[in-house]
Amino acid sequence: MNNEQQNGNGQNGGPQILTTRQGHPVTDNQNLRTVGNRGPATLENYQFLEKMSHFDRERVPERVVHARGAGAHGVFEAYGTVGNEPVSKYTRAKLFQEKGKQTPVFVRFSTVGHGGHSPETLRDPRGFATKFYTEDGNWDLVGNNLKIFFIRDALKFPDLIHSQKPDPVTNIQSGERIFDFISNTPEATHMATFLFSPWGIPANYRQMQGSGVNTYKWVNGEGKAVLVKYHWEPLQGIKNLTQEQAAEIQAKNFNHATQDLYEAIERGDYPQWELLVQIMEDHDHPELDFDPLDDTKLWPKDQFPWLPVGKMTLNKNPVNYFAEVELSAFGTGVLVDGLDFSDDKMLQGRTFSYSDTQRYRVGTNYLQLPINAPRCKVATNQRDGQMAYHQDMVEGVNPHINYEPSSLGGLKEAPKAGKDHEPQYNARLVRQKIDRTNDFKQAGETYRNFEDWERDELISNLVNTLANANKVIQDKMIENFTKADADYGRRVAEGLKNKAKNTGEVGAPSGATKTEEGVKQAGEVS
Ligand code: HEM
Repeated sequence: MNNEQQNGNGQNGGPQILTTRQGHPVTDNQNLRTVGNRGPATLENYQFLEKMSHFDRERVPERVVHARGAGAHGVFEAYGTVGNEPVSKYTRAKLFQEKGKQTPVFVRFSTVGHGGHSPETLRDPRGFATKFYTEDGNWDLVGNNLKIFFIRDALKFPDLIHSQKPDPVTNIQSGERIFDFISNTPEATHMATFLFSPWGIPANYRQMQGSGVNTYKWVNGEGKAVLVKYHWEPLQGIKNLTQEQAAEIQAKNFNHATQDLYEAIERGDYPQWELLVQIMEDHDHPELDFDPLDDTKLWPKDQFPWLPVGKMTLNKNPVNYFAEVELSAFGTGVLVDGLDFSDDKMLQGRTFSYSDTQRYRVGTNYLQLPINAPRCKVATNQRDGQMAYHQDMVEGVNPHINYEPSSLGGLKEAPKAGKDHEPQYNARLVRQKIDRTNDFKQAGETYRNFEDWERDELISNLVNTLANANKVIQDKMIENFTKADADYGRRVAEGLKNKAKNTGEVGAPSGATKTEEGVKQAGEVS
């Protein structure tokens, strides 16, 4: 007899009855147990206490960034090749090897800056995180829609995010604070150029690209490595919004991207993305005018072509948003054999941060939750901790032995899958910027590569946001945009001047405080 039969649940085609988490049938879900029908209630109301105290704990802390998101399950199918070559030339990662090989995936899309129910029309990078449940364990590719980032050193991340989150006094996001940080961070000029263009508001999650942004390595059977960057290309095409289009949608629907993804999958219109990689030899490439590990730079497509390696289809919605989407946990350290870290110092910083926050946000045993657990065998000597759900062990292993090495039937080390990749280091331990910062050249190229309407939107969005900033910040931004492209700087400067003429306001005088100036809102920024 199983549990269901014991409490009569669903027996003989009968109704599925409500129980408590202890399995007790609930015979009255409408009335508290009280002394007479007017109360008072009593403290031995176990069913009520359980129901209410679970409810009291229904929220976990939301993600400190990327709190607003939507997710879906699907499958990744490998091509077995990279461009025209067998993929095994570059990586031994099993999921890529055979043509047609399928790996289940879960993807979470997100916006970055605001809370869990903020509008999905905001100007903000979009997260694109993919968990591949491979036979060798999980691989997480934690990317964004944009291909570059604001900063190249992980030490600066909390400051970057503080400047974009709401002001700690007013709890309102402020364009002045955002550009205060960006104007003092010249490497962010390129990302600001993308973010304030229509690329800063993708129309929905299905019609946007994804990119790993940071540089990784692929390692082949001989232990030889190359540098790689990952990109997702939507087979639905790419669509971005003007500020006006976004405002129109937001006035009617602030969940439009979640709704679009959910409804497309429900009607069987499964979104697909091709996965492409760019490959570089594994060294510092002195011939380039940028450092290949600098995540504020694009690797030019004409020199480093995008090579297809597989295709992903999202074909199943979550059954429970909280259990699958909210509790999902992705991290840049989650790699499988054949994939490796590069020396990109942002990547190492990220790799610490993800699992650290997840131990706090979800709990010590977050990897035992079904959405995060690998779908291959897991056998560790880790035990206990809050919400330990089961013991990670395989049958036949001596349950008394939770350490290694042992001669008493404990777990053994795995055989190596290929030669180790063993990069060699000989350098001084320093605190220094990289040499080839080249902060403005690619920002100018990106500006010139935009279509006219994209450039017009960029200028208008920048002017509307910068108009609320202190004059010192405005001037610094104009200087940085001018270094990127003279026309770019000139148009922002002119836009600000015309706006000041129309409104009778110049940028706030240097040193102005919030109380003198009133609260300066982000205006059109996320
Ligand atoms: C989420 C840290 C840079 C993409 C997060 C979270 C943290 C974090 C703490 C919340 C994770 C959670 O609660 O599960 C950092 C740090 C960075 C950095 C310290 C730089 C040093 C980046 C970059 C990208 C990125 C460059 C783009 C490639 C994402 C995405 C998520 C995320 C997509 C959401 C994942 C999900 O859907 O659960 N990041 N991040 N982050 N980050 Fe980063």
